[in-house]
Amino acid sequence: MALERTFSIIKPDATRRNLTGKIIAKFEEGGLRVVASRRIHMTRRQAESFYGVHRERPFFGELVDFMISGPVVVQVLEGENAIARNREIMGATDPSKADAGTIRAEFAESIGENSVHGSDAPETARQEIAHFFSEADIVG
Ligand code: CMP
Repeated sequence: MALERTFSIIKPDATRRNLTGKIIAKFEEGGLRVVASRRIHMTRRQAESFYGVHRERPFFGELVDFMISGPVVVQVLEGENAIARNREIMGATDPSKADAGTIRAEFAESIGENSVHGSDAPETARQEIAHFFSEADIVG
């Protein structure tokens, strides 16, 4: 399996509780490398555009409000099978269903305030990375 890149967000519930380092340690211990990283406060427009696929979902407004409620850390993670690996390290979207030892099992507060986002497929990863980073920002 070739080296792959995925996109990750450490969400406002986690930055608020000063969990950035603990979460990055989970990625690194799990074999992923942070090859780009920036701490930002998303604008409403950025969040609405990023989560555009969820526009029709009943939780869309709540999701956007939450994502702009504080700083986030946007990152590119690189490693073998990085997209699937990142999803394993994060655990299920709903923290009550996440496996023990995963980020969401340990840190997430609810299905909405679930500490991290990760791309779900190669095409999504490419699009999500391009939302926030240019190729020159990524240093492997
Ligand atoms: P994420 O991986 O960032 O992608 C979409 C997000 O929508 C998801 O994580 C959750 O945080 C959020 N989400 C999914 N389902 C619900 C829900 N039922 N209520 C509120 N937020 C949700």
